[in-house]
Amino acid sequence: MSIDVHCHLTGGEYDRAGGLSAVLERARAAGVSAMICSGFDLESSLAAKELSEQNSDVYFSAGFQPEELSRMKEGDLSEIARLAAHPKCVAIGEIGLDYHFPDNPDRELQKEVFIRQLKIADETGLPVVIHSRDAAADTLEILKENKPLLKRGGLMHCYSYSSEMVREFSALGMYFSFGGTSTFKNAKKVHESAKAVASDRILTETDCPYLTPEPFRGVFPNEPKNVNHTLANLALLREEKEEELERQILENAERLFFRLKTKK
Ligand code: NI
Repeated sequence: MSIDVHCHLTGGEYDRAGGLSAVLERARAAGVSAMICSGFDLESSLAAKELSEQNSDVYFSAGFQPEELSRMKEGDLSEIARLAAHPKCVAIGEIGLDYHFPDNPDRELQKEVFIRQLKIADETGLPVVIHSRDAAADTLEILKENKPLLKRGGLMHCYSYSSEMVREFSALGMYFSFGGTSTFKNAKKVHESAKAVASDRILTETDCPYLTPEPFRGVFPNEPKNVNHTLANLALLREEKEEELERQILENAERLFFRLKTKK
């Protein structure tokens, strides 16, 4: 059994891959026991909620990703907070900071909305799923300053920063998930980080439809069943038995995302 803690299934990319239901069936056949479909704005969060209602093994997270902020309307964050009460909403995310492209939304606005969503997570008793690209220092600073809002912890999704930063984020109660990038031969920094994460903080994801892992790198669209390739490669990198890592990852996902939900 494996788990895909961060995927995007509702964007229409799977129409060309035999449809979404075939994608979900292939994931099940490959032993993927749960998928967390991540929202990145209000519309995608609502679509993820609907998908979770139709499939017992699909859960969702709701949030505004920093690159999408130009489309955010008054009242959208209240809607995100409302979604958090849904029985299958397991996190607020993806939220965070993205400084990658020069025309990304204004950094001050990104920070403000990030903090507002950290507050939503705290108020609704959920963990956060963090998207952070080319913004390690500011992300760390905001999380440190708002540590009281992180009572349920959170996930650094598609972790790509250094192994030194693993220590910093770990101290704040964060978990780390690795996707296709961690299987790429030239991704040395990600390999070092994947080795540095403690066993009780590591998770697997696809971030599909993008970033298909080796040996299918470049194939589009990526899909949840491919999380098994990432899992196998992580076990190799960390010199751990695959079954042991698999068990550990399921435990970690349970602790971070599902404990409260499944005990309701
Ligand atoms: Ni994502």
